[in-house]
Amino acid sequence: MERSIPFRIIVTSDSHIGKKPERISVFRRTMISMLSEKPDLIIHCGDITHNGTWTEMDEAANVFNLATQNGVPIVLGPGNHDHQGYIWSQSREYFENKGIIVLDGNVYSLKKGKRVLEITGVEGYGESYDQKMPATHYFDRVSQPNSTITDDDLERLTTGLSLLRGDINLVELHFNPGVEGTLKGEKEKYYPFFGSRRFASLVDEHNENSQYKVGAIVHGHADHGSHEGVTPGGIPVYNVSMYVLEKYVPHNEAPKLYRIIEI
Ligand SMILES: [Fe+2]
Ligand SMILES: [Fe+2]
Repeated sequence: MERSIPFRIIVTSDSHIGKKPERISVFRRTMISMLSEKPDLIIHCGDITHNGTWTEMDEAANVFNLATQNGVPIVLGPGNHDHQGYIWSQSREYFENKGIIVLDGNVYSLKKGKRVLEITGVEGYGESYDQKMPATHYFDRVSQPNSTITDDDLERLTTGLSLLRGDINLVELHFNPGVEGTLKGEKEKYYPFFGSRRFASLVDEHNENSQYKVGAIVHGHADHGSHEGVTPGGIPVYNVSMYVLEKYVPHNEAPKLYRIIEI
């Protein structure tokens, strides 16, 4: 029987370009390092920029170009910080015109040998775990007075999941899908800022009913959280915030600001 060659996927998040002047050089070095790993695909789970300005978006695009020029596809979704400059919809177009794939309930497909990898994603949002306080109210009031988050992300993810037809399927979010495993390390009282359980439930439900099962969920945003968790239905969840990954050193290797998934 022919052996299938695994997909080599690199996932990272929370570059926060513009937070400090050195963030852009860190991101550039990280990109060069990621490309040296010969990935089939690079995924960025948002908070690409810190203030969501054109200068930051432009700096990010120049770094992403290093990958696209080398034939490595870049797939990304926005994070809450990418909305801070109120130019996300134009930036999205700007990225797409440069050949970068932006996820928002759509599906990206990649073929390797006879296998197809598909990925869908949305940003997600934070929400009180006990459901007593609606997500938008809680999150807007406490953290992001100008946020435009709505439950539409759940609808768009429903659409994205229904379109998946890969041999391997992944979900990308910025916010945590409501899985405590990748929040450990954050203060518990702030858990509502980091995600909503509705996203994990939706993907679990999809896996119960579809033959095109999701093999993993990747997210960022929880910078003090943990690198691995699992949904109640058993789907692996990876927090790929670079702040988390720089503290996670497997097998005494030098820390990397990205995670390699071979699947
Ligand atoms: Fe972040
Ligand atoms: Fe974030």
